[in-house]
Amino acid sequence: MSDLPDEATLAAMVEAAGRAFAQATTLDDLRAAKQAHAGEHSPVALANRRIGDLPREERKTAGQAIGAARAAINQAYAEREAAVAVADLDARLVAEAVDVTLPVTLRPTGALHPVTALTYRMCDVFVAMGWEIAEGPEAEAEWLNFDALNFTPDHPARFLSDTLFLDPAAGHRILRTHTSPVQMRSLLTRELPVYVVAPGKVYRADEYDATHLPVFHQLEGLAVDKGLGMADLKGTLDHLARAMFGAETETRLRPHYFPFTEPSAEMDIRCFVCHGESVGNPARPCRTCKSEGWIEWGGCGVVNPRVLTAAGIDTDVYSGFAFGLGVDRTVMFRNNAADLRDFVEGDARFSRQLVGVAR
Ligand code: PHE
Repeated sequence: MSDLPDEATLAAMVEAAGRAFAQATTLDDLRAAKQAHAGEHSPVALANRRIGDLPREERKTAGQAIGAARAAINQAYAEREAAVAVADLDARLVAEAVDVTLPVTLRPTGALHPVTALTYRMCDVFVAMGWEIAEGPEAEAEWLNFDALNFTPDHPARFLSDTLFLDPAAGHRILRTHTSPVQMRSLLTRELPVYVVAPGKVYRADEYDATHLPVFHQLEGLAVDKGLGMADLKGTLDHLARAMFGAETETRLRPHYFPFTEPSAEMDIRCFVCHGESVGNPARPCRTCKSEGWIEWGGCGVVNPRVLTAAGIDTDVYSGFAFGLGVDRTVMFRNNAADLRDFVEGDARFSRQLVGVAR
């Protein structure tokens, strides 16, 4: 007689396989169980291989019984595999789920400082007219800051406490008090005609209060060409004023004195708070313009021929105009920012209100 498994043993094999499959909860475990119960060395596979050893008349019955057992095991496997695969996918979906309804922490993106943003905007107005951007150092030669600009050796601006001198004193270097030294730098390095704007930081040993910062920003402008004069200056500044403050902006030029321009003027714009309504109206005083109706935007004038001569330019042929505007003040006027200290104290609540100021 053969030692092949009888019906009961085969049934036990099927049952053992079924139990092993049921216990497997992952596809890996399930495959291992299949290897053990239906693989090459499993009891059913071994029994199957020995069918050929049986006497001919027994083969058919044994083959059917073993075949049925193998089929049952494979069937059990297939069913369990489908179930585990679903469970596996479910588990992955749960584990990797993204809850799109959860609140997100939005990280605020950085932005340009309002003064920087507006500097770019002001420069753009000039670049659009074909002007170029010029630059100069903040630690400047005293000569370029003063002498080359026709400040006499005893001009009060040099010695008044508002100029910051750099050590050693014999080096005659200062922190530039205005962007005007870039005028001379541009004339000495560029071909005529010259049309440049020079934005940058300037330094004065000033008070630190609502309307003064010891470090502030100017936009210098210089045009030197044939036949330029006061009318060109006025037209250029009016164009900028309208670009900055709107088409209705009122401006005025008020006579003034600068050693490097002649004639010289200060450019005023209508007070952005009272719009002039405080003038002669004691019932509605305006702190911003001190009830004058105008506020100062910057200095300007026709370039003094002495400056052109110092740069080796023939003043019979060439003339020019120049201006220096306060950029910080421009932000104030455009955005009703009353206190300059807010510009430098780094409180994001202030800056956030002015994001996009240059748009
Ligand atoms: N540099 C002058 C100032 O700082 C402004 C100015 C610039 C005036 C150019 C005339 C021409 O006050």
